[in-house]
Amino acid sequence: MTRLTAPDLFEPGLFEGTGFYDVFAWYRANDPVSWQHPAGEPEGFWNVTRYHDVVSVHRDSTRMSSAKGMRLGSADRAVDAVANKMLIVADPPDHTRMKRVLNQPFSNEVLSRAEEYVQQVVADVVARAVRNPGPNLIAQLERIPTDVICAIMGLPRTDWEWIGRKTTEAFESPSEVRRITANGEIFKYFGDLVRENHKSGANAFISGLTAQNSGGARLTDQELVFNFSGILAGGNETTRFTLAALTLQLAEHPDQWARIVRGEAEPDVATEEALRWSAPGMHVLRTATEALRIGNVEVEPGQRVVTWIGSANRDAEVFDAPDTFDVGRTGNRHLSFGAGRHMCLGSRLARLEITAYLRVLRDMVRSMTLRGRPRYNGSNFTWGLNELPVVLHA
Ligand code: HEM
Repeated sequence: MTRLTAPDLFEPGLFEGTGFYDVFAWYRANDPVSWQHPAGEPEGFWNVTRYHDVVSVHRDSTRMSSAKGMRLGSADRAVDAVANKMLIVADPPDHTRMKRVLNQPFSNEVLSRAEEYVQQVVADVVARAVRNPGPNLIAQLERIPTDVICAIMGLPRTDWEWIGRKTTEAFESPSEVRRITANGEIFKYFGDLVRENHKSGANAFISGLTAQNSGGARLTDQELVFNFSGILAGGNETTRFTLAALTLQLAEHPDQWARIVRGEAEPDVATEEALRWSAPGMHVLRTATEALRIGNVEVEPGQRVVTWIGSANRDAEVFDAPDTFDVGRTGNRHLSFGAGRHMCLGSRLARLEITAYLRVLRDMVRSMTLRGRPRYNGSNFTWGLNELPVVLHA
């Protein structure tokens, strides 16, 4: 019985390192869709580890609901409060309606106007990091996603630091009370902003979205507030984790860094490898609305299904030498942004930021040194480095 020798994917501390990649490899080879019921979870669920099975779950949004939650460990009450009012936990028709409106400011056309600004933010952050190296590069890199999203949303500059701090607190604080309080403060902040904008029309980002309201798809004020919070949540940690993982790989593999400097690997190509490698959105949850089959397994209606994006991104059926970080990898069909109808709203923006970071590194940085032990945050949901003692040298 393979199940008897299966390694424990829910062993405490597993995601504090990178050893879980070997565990994923075991499941892909021996038990690709496995039933698990770890302590602390109210019910069991199916774990999906192979690339093609993960894609089929993400594409099957008719039979795979997001409205009952999209991650392990979330409280039912918290999910119910936002279900079908926030993209990531919405099913059609609400999801279709809201995404039609919210996609607009994150389209290629609109974002191409932000390219120069993103490059400037990144250049400022890297210049500061080179001038004043600190013990943890992440404390500097975290400004990139925060400053970019705050600027796009037209938030007053004086609020950016507060927003960055509250977002981190709302999603990363070890204290549940602090997480709930910070979330409440973010909701209130956006609630006030939306109300105020009805009178003044001063915020072009909000006015653009509410103008669309009158022409077809509509979002209520409450939906706007929940989704603004979702946009902050979706874009901050994830992008920061990819930037950090990329920096660590380049510091540890000077040969890969040299390929970028010599122009043998283009920044946009290396961006895709950074995304595949880092997989900051480690898992995604769905609930089956009908009986269906995944691989050799029959899933019953009401059962939960977890897809492991980090595992899919290392599946040797799809990627050559999947455990090698290769900045020139082509045909890189990673699943870091998911797939299907819930595919990441901010994928173009994240790509813009990561590619800008690589260009700025190539232009401003000669080498990088790892000066200590990097540390991971230990989460199996939004996973990544929270300590990165790397110094950038001009
Ligand atoms: C490296 C950076 C990022 C990664 C790895 C990432 C990952 C993901 C993944 C895996 C999903 C799909 C979730 C699901 O299927 O349930 C998703 C959805 C989403 N992401 Fe991102 N994301 C990133 C950056 C961003 C940014 C910059 C934004 C800000 C605009 C953002 C906003 C969202 C939103 C609002 C959704 C929900 C979309 C929907 O349900 O239709 N993300 N993201």
